Amino acid sequence: MIGKLNHVAIAVPDLEKASAVYREALGAKVSPPQAEPDHGVTVVFIELPNTKIELLHPLGDNSPIAAFLEKNPSGGMHHVCYEVDDIRAARDQLKAQGARVLGDGEPKIGAHNKPVLFLHPKDFCGTLVELEQA
Ligand code: CO
Repeated sequence: MIGKLNHVAIAVPDLEKASAVYREALGAKVSPPQAEPDHGVTVVFIELPNTKIELLHPLGDNSPIAAFLEKNPSGGMHHVCYEVDDIRAARDQLKAQGARVLGDGEPKIGAHNKPVLFLHPKDFCGTLVELEQA
């Protein structure tokens, strides 16, 4: 069902420092920070030849990554995003197998202007999974 790895998201307490690590120490192509108020995060995109890394930093009072950073004050891997052809078909198939879809279960438009859904980490080897319709 899943296709390409679209991105790995890493929550970071200091976006500038994290950008510098990827730009200078690791020599990657790093975008300027982009505010995503609808998602409660500021994102920096790092383009690798085969996938992307997204650095996430809380934006606003109800950021979905605030609690994660409280538990992981130096930052950490937040989720992986896999591409699917049909997000509703993927959701229905996973739900039929007992997997939990977060939120109201309806796809939302993600940071790349494509529909996304999140799946409960307890059902996926302890990792929060984002599905994006490619
Ligand atoms: Co993501």
